[in-house]
Amino acid sequence: MASASPLSEFDPLANRPIDEDANYQWRIARRPQGNVRPEDFEWRVVPIPEPGEGEVLLRTLYLGLAPVMRMYMAGTANTGDARLEIGDLIHGRGVAQVVKSRHPDWAEGEIVQGQIGWQTWKVSRMTPQEKFFRMPRNGHPAALGAGVLGMTGLSAHAGLFACGDPRAGDRMVLSGAAGGVGSMVSQLAANVVGCDVVGMAGGPEKCAFILDHGCSAAIDYKADDIAAKLDELRPDGIDLYFDNVGGETLAACLERLRMNARIVLCGSISEYTRDEPFGLANYTRLRGTDSLMRGFFVYNHLDRWEAVMGEMAGWIEDGKLKPVQDIAEGFQNMPRALANLYHGANVGVQCCSVRGEPEEWL
Ligand SMILES: NC(=O)c1ccc[n+]([C@@H]2O[C@H](COP(=O)([O-])OP(=O)(O)OC[C@H]3O[C@@H](n4cnc5c(N)ncnc54)[C@H](OP(=O)(O)O)[C@@H]3O)[C@@H](O)[C@H]2O)c1
Repeated sequence: MASASPLSEFDPLANRPIDEDANYQWRIARRPQGNVRPEDFEWRVVPIPEPGEGEVLLRTLYLGLAPVMRMYMAGTANTGDARLEIGDLIHGRGVAQVVKSRHPDWAEGEIVQGQIGWQTWKVSRMTPQEKFFRMPRNGHPAALGAGVLGMTGLSAHAGLFACGDPRAGDRMVLSGAAGGVGSMVSQLAANVVGCDVVGMAGGPEKCAFILDHGCSAAIDYKADDIAAKLDELRPDGIDLYFDNVGGETLAACLERLRMNARIVLCGSISEYTRDEPFGLANYTRLRGTDSLMRGFFVYNHLDRWEAVMGEMAGWIEDGKLKPVQDIAEGFQNMPRALANLYHGANVGVQCCSVRGEPEEWL
């Protein structure tokens, strides 16, 4: 008999009643050890807050999920946000509608995206720290603001263009290719720049998916010998490696650099739940090929927000970028949606629909 998926332990959470008469929240019940478990989350029901002078009331429509959230819960995130303690509301960006406004700059009916936290309502002063942006009504669903036309999209764009210096014909390798950032990077690199992208993903279905989303070849890192596959598919080496996973995969790519190669350090999800940090022993391979390894943090690229979102929307309209969002239904399912990321259960950007699309959009 097949054993139950480890994700099925989240099933009972889905049955919690939820209504419009209160503010529902997920808070930190305990620090996660390894991957997140249902017991790490506290469900709290509080009154819907009233906005004071200079504040707005936001009604959450969608929330995005990101691997960094487990680090918020563990108290180990190094993102500039305030460290969270047990009992705190979990950080999370999403899309909301302004339903009451006592703020001069934000009107009732507008759709915004920014720091909402894991809750169904929020009162906000719309401070710079919350990084709220108005979502233009441009024919794209509001849901995209929780991913492709949100911070995940900006991460893909900044990592590839501002850090990777991609060039047509680059022999590229991309890990995490079926994930949120990865599924966009593969398409932008192949369809906008003209790179040849070998993608890595876990399992045959995801490998088929990435071949349909910009990759010319796929490595199933769960079944294949990564080093042997890289030798087979990149016999002349790598010009550009976009790293979403870190660990042994990063080390294997460092062994195969061409002259003037570039490595983009986007994320290292394979290392996040390890007890001991991975010690990269072969970074000196950069020297022999005059190569560059460069990290980036998405919040350092906010000044280009409008230009990037305009470009991304244009590429969606041109068919160069197919938006892929994996939408969990219902706010109750936020913990499971976060666990999905670490079990490889998502394809594209993992999001959660709290109320879905707005009925009206100012
Ligand atoms: N630098 C920045 O500012 C910035 C901004 C956003 C995101 N990031 C980072 O970028 C990476 C991608 O973020 P995302 O939001 O798009 O998430 P994501 O790629 O959708 O993350 C989930 C995917 O990661 C893969 N994965 C999970 N555990 C893995 C492991 N042990 N080894 C290899 N792959 C594993 C799984 O795909 P498979 O089924 O294929 O394994 C899973 O579907 C993350 O590391 C994140 O922290 C960085």
